[in-house]
Amino acid sequence: MTNKTSVHGSWASRWIFILAATGSAVGLGNIWKFPYITGENGGGAFVLVYLACILLVGIPIMMAEVLIGRRARKNPINALTDIAEESDASKAWGWIGVMGMLSGVLIFSFYSVVGGWVLHYIKIMLTGEMLGVSAEQAGDSFGALLGDAKTLLGWHTLFSIMTIAVVAGGINKGIETATRIMMPALFVLLLILLGYAMSTDGFAQGWDFMFHVDFDALTWNVALVALGHSFFTLSLGMGTIMAYGSYMTKKASIGKTVLTIGALDTLVALVAGLAIFPIIFSNGLNPGAGPGLMFISLPVAFGQMPFGQLFGSLFFILVGVAAWTSAISLLEPTVAFLIEKFKMKRITASITLGAVVWALGIACLGSFNFLSDVTFFGKNTFDFLDYITANIMLPLGGILIALFAGWVVKDKFAQDELQLSGSIYKLWNISMKFTAPIAVAVVLYFLLFPMS
Ligand code: PHE
Ligand code: NA
Repeated sequence: MTNKTSVHGSWASRWIFILAATGSAVGLGNIWKFPYITGENGGGAFVLVYLACILLVGIPIMMAEVLIGRRARKNPINALTDIAEESDASKAWGWIGVMGMLSGVLIFSFYSVVGGWVLHYIKIMLTGEMLGVSAEQAGDSFGALLGDAKTLLGWHTLFSIMTIAVVAGGINKGIETATRIMMPALFVLLLILLGYAMSTDGFAQGWDFMFHVDFDALTWNVALVALGHSFFTLSLGMGTIMAYGSYMTKKASIGKTVLTIGALDTLVALVAGLAIFPIIFSNGLNPGAGPGLMFISLPVAFGQMPFGQLFGSLFFILVGVAAWTSAISLLEPTVAFLIEKFKMKRITASITLGAVVWALGIACLGSFNFLSDVTFFGKNTFDFLDYITANIMLPLGGILIALFAGWVVKDKFAQDELQLSGSIYKLWNISMKFTAPIAVAVVLYFLLFPMS
């Protein structure tokens, strides 16, 4: 099955795969979510566990996803069942793909709402209405946005349509260009923001908050959120990277490619955190403020710095593009599945799925206004979906993918795809068989059955 190509086409080169996968990885997870959950979970200890998870769990699992996708050249469900068959194992492994698609749909529903917030901020940065606002005014303005269901619906709808349009057109064009040009630009703007953050008197405190490790702050829940985020930020555990891997050419080295993607994603998150926390502290804001963290702190910073209106507008545009390329990758596995399984046209598949995720998104945006009374285990719909997808569904998907890659996929196939042998291959294989599944299982276990 080595010379197959996917029915959806393939990326022209290794670089295009890196660009597309980086486009998927780098998104709201890095710039919005990482800083706000770092803030909620006390800083340094959280960051340390997160970095360890990226290296020890995330990177090896990403290799597994690329290997499975590239070998089978099909959507995640069929990829898993084909490879299970090839390895004389049960087709039931395909269910990992089903859970993954469900995760993608659920993640999209809140992701698109936040994507909508970004679109709103592009507008208010361009019009200059945030110029010179105080931290308090910025907080009020974000609060007013959350309370305004109609406005949220408008932006969520626009973001959904933008995403569905690209998925419907086939993802082989567009994404690469968006990523190649916009990602470096986003990084430059983050550096400008970092430069500003360094000039504030909150920098030392911000640095300390992120890198001073206080082990007393480390609870099982903190570890779980860090672990879950390592999956979320690398787009793992739900088939996105598997689907993108199925469009990857045979020549490229999986190990090097995956390391590059992991490094880029981590760099963006760390720089975003280092830019945001000093601004939080120098303006007397609360690092644990939750999902509004970046939307409240950054407009204050842009309002104070030279060329703030220009930089601020550009910044939110680029964050919007990063969110867009990630949102596309949330839908792609399911669309590929619908096309392959039900012989749907790509456009029909995209619109059908789009309608579902758009409707679910309305339940999420309602969490802040007309549905604020609806809670699951004490969380509103938005927080609940974020929590169960990132902290339960993705890690569970990840363990299963690791177990599949370690115990089911035959060594000769894995070695052939990964182009690895000797001790490096051993290391990866041990991580699939033991390290990654055990790490995830331990964290989930202690969370479900806390010691006290
Ligand atoms: N990795 C993306 C981010 O950090 C989110 C994502 C998760 C995308 C899972 C696809 C699959 O924003
Ligand atoms: Na990410």
